[in-house]
Parts: sequence; C-alpha cells; structure tokens
Amino acid sequence: LNDTTRAWHLKSRPTGMPTLDNFELKDAPLAPLQDGWVRVANSWLSVDPYMRGRMNDVRSYVPPFEIGAPLQGGAVGKVVESKAEGFSPGDTVFHMQGWREAATGPSETFNKVPPMPVEDHEWLGNLGLTGATAYFGLLKAAEAKAGDIVFVSAAAGAVGSAVVQIGKALGMTVIGSAGGSDKCAWVRELGADAAVDYKAQPVLKGLMAAAPKGIDVYFDNVGGDHLDAALATARNNARFAICGMIDSYNGGDPAAFRYIMRMISARIAMKGFIYTDYLAQMGDFYRDMGGWISNGQVVSRQTVLEGLEATPQAFLDLFTGGNMGKMLVRI
Ligand SMILES: NC(=O)c1ccc[n+]([C@@H]2O[C@H](COP(=O)([O-])OP(=O)(O)OC[C@H]3O[C@@H](n4cnc5c(N)ncnc54)[C@H](OP(=O)(O)O)[C@@H]3O)[C@@H](O)[C@H]2O)c1
Repeated sequence: LNDTTRAWHLKSRPTGMPTLDNFELKDAPLAPLQDGWVRVANSWLSVDPYMRGRMNDVRSYVPPFEIGAPLQGGAVGKVVESKAEGFSPGDTVFHMQGWREAATGPSETFNKVPPMPVEDHEWLGNLGLTGATAYFGLLKAAEAKAGDIVFVSAAAGAVGSAVVQIGKALGMTVIGSAGGSDKCAWVRELGADAAVDYKAQPVLKGLMAAAPKGIDVYFDNVGGDHLDAALATARNNARFAICGMIDSYNGGDPAAFRYIMRMISARIAMKGFIYTDYLAQMGDFYRDMGGWISNGQVVSRQTVLEGLEATPQAFLDLFTGGNMGKMLVRI
C-alpha cells in the first residue's frame, strides 16, 4: 500500500467565480496506520456549495481551507486496512477526507454506515448531510407542518429535491423554483404542486401565480431575489428557514430587499441554521427518511462525474446549475 494518495489541493484562493486554475491534483502524504486507525479507499466524493466559503480566508462555522493543502469534503469509501476495533476490511464508511483517493486516520473520524439496504452514495445524498439539512431545516428550523404552503428554492438540487419530497410526504402544499423547464418538470414529478422557472420569468411573478394565497414557509437555498419574492408573498406568521444563499457565494453586489419591511406587518420569523445544530436528533432522521426511501415517497437522483480528475469541475458546475439532484464524483 502506498504512503501517498492523489489529492486535490487548493492552489490559490478564488475571487468571484472559481476556475479550474484554483485547484491542483498532486500526491499528498498518507500517515502510516497507527493503533486505532483505519485506511479507506474512497469510492464517492461529495461537492457542496459551502466549500466555496471555505476557499476564502475568512473564519466561519468551519475553518478556511489552506493554500497548498489538500481540500476536504464528504466522502464514502471502503475500509481496506484496519488496526481499529469494530472496523474490518470491506466496511462502508462516510467521512470528511474527500477530494482524494485514499484516507487514513483514527477510526473515530470515520462513521460506519447504519445497516440499511441502500446504495453507498445515498450516505452523501438523502441519507447524508443533504437529506438531514432538508429534514431539520423544514421540520425544526421552519417548523413546517401538514397544511402549510411551502416555497423552496433550488428545488431541483440535492437539498431542495429532498425538501419537496418531505413536504409532500407530510401533507404540505409545495412550490419549488429551479432554473429551466427540464428541472421544473422534474420538480413536479417529485410531487410539487407547482414549479417556478426563475430563468423564464422573474421569480416573484412566477411565485405570485403559483401561490395566489401566499406562503406559510420559505426554505431558502438561494437568497437574493428568491428571498425577496418569499418576503413579498409571505402570509401572517410565516416561518423562513435560511439554509443557504448560493446567489451570493461568489460575491457580487448584495441584493436589495424591496419587501424586507413585510417582516413586520406579516410577523415573519426567519431562522438561519446549520444541520449540525440537530445532530442529537439523527435517530429521528434515519427512521423517517429511511422509511420514506423504502416506501418510495422519497426518491434519489444523482448527477455523477467520473474520476477524481473531474472533482473541481463538478464543484464549479454547482454554480451554473449543472446538476439535477445530488452532485457526486465516482472514483
Ligand atoms: N445550512 C446547512 O447546514 C446547509 C447544508 C447543506 C447545504 N446548504 C445550502 O443549501 C443549498 C443547496 O445545497 P445543495 O448541496 O443541495 O446544492 P444543489 O442545490 O444541489 O446545487 C446548487 C444549485 O443551486 C442553483 N443555483 C446556483 N447558483 C444560483 C443562483 N445564482 N441563483 C439561483 N439558483 C442558483 C442551481 O440550480 P438551478 O439550475 O435551479 O439554478 C444549482 O443546481 C446551498 O445554498 C447550500 O449552501 C446548507
């Protein structure tokens, strides 16, 4: 077994939209196996919009990536060597040493997947942080319940498509927005009552037509004009779960909110959250999401790029809408 692995490194910090030149594929050292450690061969890598924030030299809820160091991110792989109790070759694990082929480390940094009959990549999608973000954001941060009219942006993406399906499974009316007619058709296929193509018309115009009575809940993945449209159409006591604002991750002019004052008259509650806020309730998530997947109420879709080489491109494609469902790299 090698003492190095091919890994993507951050070559330079992006300004604005990242480019392939910001990344470099080269060998990184793999620490030798110590007692209590495992070695894992990665098979699936996740790319996620939040990684863009870690490429800036700014402290946030996760520390910044360092220039010249390997990148990190969600990954699923198989144990190939173990000096740790409870881990055997062949075990499937998910962990945070993505953007590379192989990983070593203390077994506590690798999670054995729960015994459920699903494909391995599901642990990066609807049964991973993506699904958990949708579940806790909708049900805990926004306190959505049966009968609510829910609007979710980036509804054909990983988190958004899970929000649509959880909402429908629990008896909500769901309106999703996405860029393009193919994506909107898929959002309706997932059960959404309406889909707004924000590239074909202003999102506010589409949302007003799709939700003539207004909305009770907004699940924000985009920010900007989508958040403003939600403010404009919110009913009294609406709850907003602020999950992401991908519209602003590459900088640019901050959006002007024309309807922000509706927070007062409509008594809107806005709650930002990070899925880790709810880790203590992961048991509920596995029970409910596992049930919906096994009875077909939640389906998973992936956009897969092949090979470690494709990882930066997969990441960049998130910002141009190149994915339907969860964006993944298969090694
Ligand atoms: N708070 C948390 O704990 C947490 C955890 C995970 C993810 N998130 C956030 O959740 C959101 C979704 O993440 P994800 O992993 O599921 O990604 P995703 O939705 O699968 O991919 C990103 C999607 O965003 C849309 N998009 C990109 N730029 C846009 C823009 N300027 N305006 C409108 N739409 C744009 C694209 O879809 P279209 O083609 O439809 O434009 C793209 O497919 C992100 O904001 C992410 O940061 C938050």
